[in-house]
Amino acid sequence: MNPTQASHDTVRAVLWQGSHLRLLDQRLLPAEEAYVDCRSAQEVAEAIRELVVRGAPAIGIAAAWGVVLAAQHDPARLDEALATLRAARPTAVNLMWALDRMQRAIARGADLAALAREAQAIQDEDLVANRRMGAAGAALLGNGVGVLTHCNTGSLATAGFGTALGVIRAGVETGRIARVYAGETRPWLQGARLTMWELLRDGIPATLVADSAAAHLMSTGRVQWVIVGADRIAANGDTANKIGTYQLAIAARHHGVKFMVVAPSSTVDMATASGADIEIELRSPDELFAYGGQRTVVEGAQAWNPVFDVTPASLIDAIVTERGVVEHPDTARMASLFGAG
Ligand code: MRU
Repeated sequence: MNPTQASHDTVRAVLWQGSHLRLLDQRLLPAEEAYVDCRSAQEVAEAIRELVVRGAPAIGIAAAWGVVLAAQHDPARLDEALATLRAARPTAVNLMWALDRMQRAIARGADLAALAREAQAIQDEDLVANRRMGAAGAALLGNGVGVLTHCNTGSLATAGFGTALGVIRAGVETGRIARVYAGETRPWLQGARLTMWELLRDGIPATLVADSAAAHLMSTGRVQWVIVGADRIAANGDTANKIGTYQLAIAARHHGVKFMVVAPSSTVDMATASGADIEIELRSPDELFAYGGQRTVVEGAQAWNPVFDVTPASLIDAIVTERGVVEHPDTARMASLFGAG
């Protein structure tokens, strides 16, 4: 086992191979464990767009390696590569954060080896941040609680261990969490396909629920916390995350269930004042027209497919980052941890 891995954390989705980037193809899980090799920044951008690699931190890490590939194979067109990677997906700010960091290294005159060290540092720091957040988030829980999570925020979505799933890993390990429920996360099924695969593979028992079962689940008293990740956290604490997160927060508040957001500081965007300023990615309506490859909707139908939503800060009990925890987030509390935008 790789020394950066531990029991209950055996999956790695973004693997630098020295000359190319290997990505675990998340479109195929859990049916197939196959890898896609990227040899150019354009191929990395395509893999991000097509969700071969997904999850805010993992997208940023992959993009950083995309810059290394551009420097390796096409140094004359670095700016073009950076622009292509930046445009791959709009909502997760980790993508822009990682590319800004690589661009600063380029501006400092970094050579290929230095750029590879920078990309590796982005990846390594994410793993360290996740472990720190895991401990900090688990410490907020009671004992033997039930939790509900949404989408996939685990090793597949990060350098390893995960954000919200990192808290769940740490909580299960210390006995603070007795039961884990995962929402399916229509339409792409990150919860059903990825979170269930990842947790069961790592020996963490989890129970799948339909997204539409969440409020009823809360009404039964089975969960005390909803724990989710984030794609972008604005300066006032408003949080963009996978579509469906907002309705979980509303239902949680109604039922007296606590709501925790777990994300590294690379997801915090102090330059964006509030959630209203966050671009929400719209994906193809085709994602809604079929289930398991089988068309389920009448031909000629229309569909609207926003894949993120914004949970207002007022519905969030705690934002857990590697720098610390912001309870009941607002602009002043966010600024005290992250500085002004
Ligand atoms: O469309 P995806 O699968 O990239 O969306 C992922 C999410 O919304 C996650 O919750 C978020 O990126 C946090 S991952 C640690």
